[in-house]
Amino acid sequence: MKYNFDEIIDRSKYNSLKWLELDSKFGRDDILPMWVADMDFKSPQPIIDAICNRALHGVFGYTTRTESYFKTIAEWMERRHNWNPPEELLVHSPGVVFSLSTIVQEFTEPGDKIIVQPPVYYPFYSIIENNDRKVVLNPLKNLNGKYVMDYDDLERKIDENVKMLILCSPHNPIGRVWSREELVKLGEICRENNVRIVSDEIHCDLVLKGYKHTPFGTLPNNLSDNLITCFAPSKTFNIAGLQASVVSFSNEGDYVRYNEALDKHHFKNNNCFSIAAVEAGYKYGEEWLEQLLDYLEGNVEFLIKYIEEKIPQIKVHRPEGTFLAWLDCRNLEMNAELLSHFMINKAKVALDDGYWFGEEGKGFMRINFACPRGILEEGLRRIEEAISQNVNI
Ligand SMILES: Cc1ncc(COP(=O)(O)O)c(C=O)c1O
Repeated sequence: MKYNFDEIIDRSKYNSLKWLELDSKFGRDDILPMWVADMDFKSPQPIIDAICNRALHGVFGYTTRTESYFKTIAEWMERRHNWNPPEELLVHSPGVVFSLSTIVQEFTEPGDKIIVQPPVYYPFYSIIENNDRKVVLNPLKNLNGKYVMDYDDLERKIDENVKMLILCSPHNPIGRVWSREELVKLGEICRENNVRIVSDEIHCDLVLKGYKHTPFGTLPNNLSDNLITCFAPSKTFNIAGLQASVVSFSNEGDYVRYNEALDKHHFKNNNCFSIAAVEAGYKYGEEWLEQLLDYLEGNVEFLIKYIEEKIPQIKVHRPEGTFLAWLDCRNLEMNAELLSHFMINKAKVALDDGYWFGEEGKGFMRINFACPRGILEEGLRRIEEAISQNVNI
């Protein structure tokens, strides 16, 4: 089946957060939303069919997962990423952020330090701080336009109170797909210092041509024996609204400990639609995903060419994965507040401000390119026009 990713679908009337929270987040609702990290595309047809079939049954009482649920998930991971997470150590979660927060609560103590690598997905900070733990920053280094990990800084920052590192792999917002070598080096430093790695791999299936996602769980056992990995079909198939994700443990003790934490809240079940959708996606969604990746590839090329030719003041970090591009707007010579105001009120686009991801993101913007090319073009045209009229901001 051939999917049409150029189709423009009006999401504004279906509780879309991207649209409905424009006003509260940006102060106006007449701007083009290119911020929240979901896609403006329909999900794969097998998922839509599975949900429709389930809805037609008409009875929505308590549901439970069958054995095939985690088996299907594990098979996908093996097929797509050569990773065999032990099926019996997989746990359902309504969302990766929920899992990360529960992991922080359960596997660290108040006052402990937790490392993150900014600029990074901003809920990482609140998960740590809201649980009375301390954030330790190990900023990525921007080497001539390519972000890399700073291992020397990491070693310097680790002390006996550092208990965990939350890794973003692939990395939102800068779009790096970490290589095996980079991950091994990180893993070695963390193992030597008894720092547990929690790997957020929610973007693992969205990797562009020429790159390969390395699940942390495929690294040598001694680097991953107390690893916790979070992943989900939500970005992959655009089903974040169904609230289903997965936590994978590499040993039974951690699995039991995490489940005990969930038991305190009597939290266990998926909703019935997510069961149908997750299985359908992981079983039959591959054809759609391949076409999606081709389309996203085209959007990346379009975005880069457009900016190079028409908005040369902005530099794009070519993403290796995710559907997010990191725009270096420092040549516009606006401070963070002014840049934000400019994009909202002059260009009339809603982007993620770079500084949301940490101080290191000041002067940058994140744009979501998982939309029909026509919408992407419209967003870029607005920015181009605003820059060409950049007077009296
Ligand atoms: C790195 C990363 N982790 C987690 C999430 C959110 O996950 P969830 O909706 O499952 O809580 C996102 C969403 O953008 C993300 O980019």
